[in-house]
Amino acid sequence: MRGPLFIRVADFGGRSLLASLPLVSALVFGLVLIAVPTTRGQSVKTSVPYSDVKPIVDVLREDLLPAELRGRIPAEIEALWPDWVSRRDAMIRARGLPVDTSIFIDLGLERALDAMRVAGVIRPGAVRRVAIIGPGLDFTDKLEGYDFYPEQTIQPFAVIDSLLRLDLAEIAQLQVAAFDLSPRVLEHLEAARARARAGTPYTVVLPRNTDRPWTPDLVDYWQAFGNWIGEAAARVPPPPPGAGRVEVRGIAVRPPVVLSVTPLDLDIVTERLGPSSPDEAFDLVIATNILLYYDVFEQSLAMANIARMLRPGGFFLSNNRVFELPTSPLSGVGFTDTTYISLPGIGDTGDRVIWYRRQ
Ligand SMILES: C[S@@+](CC[C@H](N)C(=O)[O-])C[C@H]1O[C@@H](n2cnc3c(N)ncnc32)[C@H](O)[C@@H]1O
Repeated sequence: MRGPLFIRVADFGGRSLLASLPLVSALVFGLVLIAVPTTRGQSVKTSVPYSDVKPIVDVLREDLLPAELRGRIPAEIEALWPDWVSRRDAMIRARGLPVDTSIFIDLGLERALDAMRVAGVIRPGAVRRVAIIGPGLDFTDKLEGYDFYPEQTIQPFAVIDSLLRLDLAEIAQLQVAAFDLSPRVLEHLEAARARARAGTPYTVVLPRNTDRPWTPDLVDYWQAFGNWIGEAAARVPPPPPGAGRVEVRGIAVRPPVVLSVTPLDLDIVTERLGPSSPDEAFDLVIATNILLYYDVFEQSLAMANIARMLRPGGFFLSNNRVFELPTSPLSGVGFTDTTYISLPGIGDTGDRVIWYRRQ
């Protein structure tokens, strides 16, 4: 049987594996097989081998498989697999995907984490390793169209803030991996880390149009955002005239907090980070406003990768309900509903964050 076609080496946990690991490679029947020995604290990124995909192909309805893989015998699908992965990868990267973000979903995540804490499913101090898949980049506020502040990522810092506020993590112990396939997002986070290494904080700017009917919960969240990870920013860009009644909150995120976030180029549908020992697996994985862009097959692949990266008993949080395969070790064990904007007579805007637990 064919092994993984390639194993790529990742820089994770603050160490460059490329610098420290010998790559042992051999030519086996014309296939390049690269083995990456790992030691404690080091993880490798791998593309998904067909052996991991087969259980999904076996249980998914035929019409939910990609057109190229339909109506074929298992050996044909296995032979086509590397090709399918590379064509899909090229297509996704060429097409690009939306990267927008806002603080709304981060309130939804905080409410979910709080409910899990209250329910006793997540214990104080239990979160050390977190993966945020698709942190996103806010370059104009989608709802209001504001673009008077530089582009920024919010979710990694929002999640750290919530974990500290809820006493679920300690900053000295916390490592956050930010996985994305957008070079723009990755370069943005790398640049923030470079500035943090020189002692410069990362500024998050949060405008609020006071004419909008934000729920009291969202207003409280906005007011307290960042209190556990930074200070009020010394300078905040003023909203332009004509922007309406806008209040702006600026938070200078402390450099050690910025440095706790490590960006990594990873496509969650076809790649995963393999922990080299069980205690390097993630306690918590988050992916919001991403899985909706994928079909059932791709979502199932993503869920399988997430399950493999989580420790047993670890949690995956998402606001996109996904089809749960009977064979998946991840199952929904609860959810939290949060309302962000309430328009009497018209309706509410909010999110349901689903708690998936790894068996
Ligand atoms: C719409 S944004 C959502 C940002 C943020 N999670 C939020 O909820 O506000 C989607 C993010 O997921 C990233 N993304 C999309 N598909 C991905 C994939 N297959 N693997 C990793 N990141 C992905 C995008 O580049 C972008 O950063």
